Amino acid sequence: MRWLFILLIPAFVWRAADAPLNPEQDRMTLQQAAPFPIGVAVDVKLLMTDSAYRHTVNQEFSSLTSENALKMNRLLVAPNQYNWTGGDALVDFARQTNKRMHGHTLVWHVAVPNWVQTFQGDSLAWENLLKSHIQTVIRHYKGRVKSWDVVNEAFEADGSLRKTIWLEHLGSDYVARCYQYAHEADPDVLLFYNDFSLDIKPLKAAAVKAMVMEFKRRGIPINGIGLQAHISIYNSDSKFRDCLDDMASTGLQIHISELDIRLNAKKIKDFIVSDVLLQQQQQKYAAIVRAYKSAVPKKQQYGITIWSVGDNDSYLVNDCKCPDAPLLFDTGYKKKLAYKGLMGALRQ
Ligand code: G3I
Repeated sequence: MRWLFILLIPAFVWRAADAPLNPEQDRMTLQQAAPFPIGVAVDVKLLMTDSAYRHTVNQEFSSLTSENALKMNRLLVAPNQYNWTGGDALVDFARQTNKRMHGHTLVWHVAVPNWVQTFQGDSLAWENLLKSHIQTVIRHYKGRVKSWDVVNEAFEADGSLRKTIWLEHLGSDYVARCYQYAHEADPDVLLFYNDFSLDIKPLKAAAVKAMVMEFKRRGIPINGIGLQAHISIYNSDSKFRDCLDDMASTGLQIHISELDIRLNAKKIKDFIVSDVLLQQQQQKYAAIVRAYKSAVPKKQQYGITIWSVGDNDSYLVNDCKCPDAPLLFDTGYKKKLAYKGLMGALRQ
């Protein structure tokens, strides 16, 4: 009898994510169903110009991340000169709609303004530049942005510190100082470290965990880890779960911060998005939610954020210039099977 029960559990879990939604579930939104914040990365231009996009964001999600608007290259347009237009529009929208606002990101080697790349100065001048940026932005949004990805992607796959402009000019302890500067500017704001492929790059994951543990020992303020999760339908569920488990063992908040699930993992130019692949994607979205619920203790569940709204909005489609459909909504913001998979697992 016990064996029968054990055999039936996976079948039940599979069916629950796959089963048709009843009319009441159909009316329910993701934010109503989720036992933790459910977020989305928002593009300000689309938010301001496309009413279907805005409606979907407002209706379905309880937490917003700035996809690009709060990056250094968007804000710090010239020495000591900030352009707050896009960032303010998004943060105001979050406020008006009563959503949690997660700021992304203060320090990222990809989002360095051109003028900073050619900046001339000694190490103190570079330190002041970065410190001033972190503190200016955090103070500007004090009380309106709940949490920040302070440093993004500081590690290589082999666990060494990535050779960025910041490492070159500020030295190997610069990451810790970024967190101290952020905390000085607003002691109440939550500070995250954010990185990608932690589920498939064990040396990088070990380096992130070691850094966090060292921060705790040294009293460097840090509150959470963001696992980006730009994955495909072929990523291993068990490796992802183990990674969540490992990161949660730090005791910090765990944010699945940039979830999207590719179908076209090999970036094939004449790829065809089939129903079978969309069903596999549905199962994968459900599996990620189940892994998150089971591996991360409730009080550490900062939430799951999807990296864009409709399939056409995804950076993946732009970057790859190949067909794909990685998100919950199609190009016309209709719910996909992926939505159903996520919803089913949120409600389980
Ligand atoms: O808005 C301009 C538009 O006016 C211009 O015509 C067009 C021409 O290229 O560029 C547009 O800006 C692009 C922007 O996305 C908005 O689409 C930038 O060139 C492009 O570099 C930018 O890409 C973003 C990328 O980060 C680099 O900042 C993606 O949207 C964004 O999804 C992506 O997000 C990153 C996370 O921040 C960190 N983790 C990985 C993730 C994916 O790369």
